[in-house]
Amino acid sequence: MKNVLVIGSTGQIGSELTMNLRRHLPTGAVVAGYVSGAEPKGVLAESGPSEIADVRDAACLGAIVDKYKIDTIYNLAALLSAVAEKKPLLAWDIQINGLLAVLEVAREKGCAVFTPSSIGSFGPSTPHVGTPQDTIQRPRSMYGVTKVATELLSDYYFHKYGVDTRSVRFPGLISYVQLPGGGTTDYAVEIYYAAVKGEEFVCPIAAGTFMDMMYMPDALKGAIDLMEADPSRLVHRNSFNIASMSFDPEMILAEIRKRYPDFRMRYEVDPVRQAIANSWPDSMDDSCAREEWDWKPSYDLSSMTDDMIINLKAKLL
Ligand code: SER
Repeated sequence: MKNVLVIGSTGQIGSELTMNLRRHLPTGAVVAGYVSGAEPKGVLAESGPSEIADVRDAACLGAIVDKYKIDTIYNLAALLSAVAEKKPLLAWDIQINGLLAVLEVAREKGCAVFTPSSIGSFGPSTPHVGTPQDTIQRPRSMYGVTKVATELLSDYYFHKYGVDTRSVRFPGLISYVQLPGGGTTDYAVEIYYAAVKGEEFVCPIAAGTFMDMMYMPDALKGAIDLMEADPSRLVHRNSFNIASMSFDPEMILAEIRKRYPDFRMRYEVDPVRQAIANSWPDSMDDSCAREEWDWKPSYDLSSMTDDMIINLKAKLL
């Protein structure tokens, strides 16, 4: 990996992954791809090149690949689960027609491609505890449908054309840098903002609903390590389960109350998000990622909570 295009560089994952890649590849070009209305700002804009890169515009993507001699594309353009339920056709257009444009450019120009999948690729009939790497994937949300199709198309381009596609199934991602927009796991980010600001938190997910979650530094490391992994060790490609912690709203509340004993939370369950959450795994088995490319997370709920609070205090207070 030398020169990289990040599509969706100003989004929840892209804004941090682009900066990590720039530190990781100091002599290469890491191009921040964006769409109009979501231009890179501040250090993201100043620390390297940026280009308009609509994921559905193969000609535009191809021109960027040529201009910067791109060898790896991180395709992070996506609508999250709750938004995708409101705009299913747009979600399909971005997630699948966009992916096809990226894969075609990659096939023609010899790029490797990372397009994340998610816990959202599983559904009600999936075993929910210790969800295996290879198991039933029959999601009922449009987000999930696009993620299963993403995995299949990415594998298809690998087997049929030899495109070096690799990816992970991300858990809910937690970070103090950029708020997610319209996901089912967003509550686990927003709860920290409320705690640090001294506000009551209204939780849209019911007590007892367990989901896999991950602190962003682990997610970024996974995305980079997988693209640099020895391909001869990869039995799987699209996509690897990766996990680090699983909790329900009561567990994260208890962890925050160890630091903020007066923190208050009440429930106002959102039926759309709750139905999606009920259909997702409680905890994934990530042993294939551990065996095939040495995946190993660093953060658990307690160390993530410490780090989130330190950084949010610096950001918000
Ligand atoms: N965090 C995503 C969502 O909640 C799942 O991948 O939509």
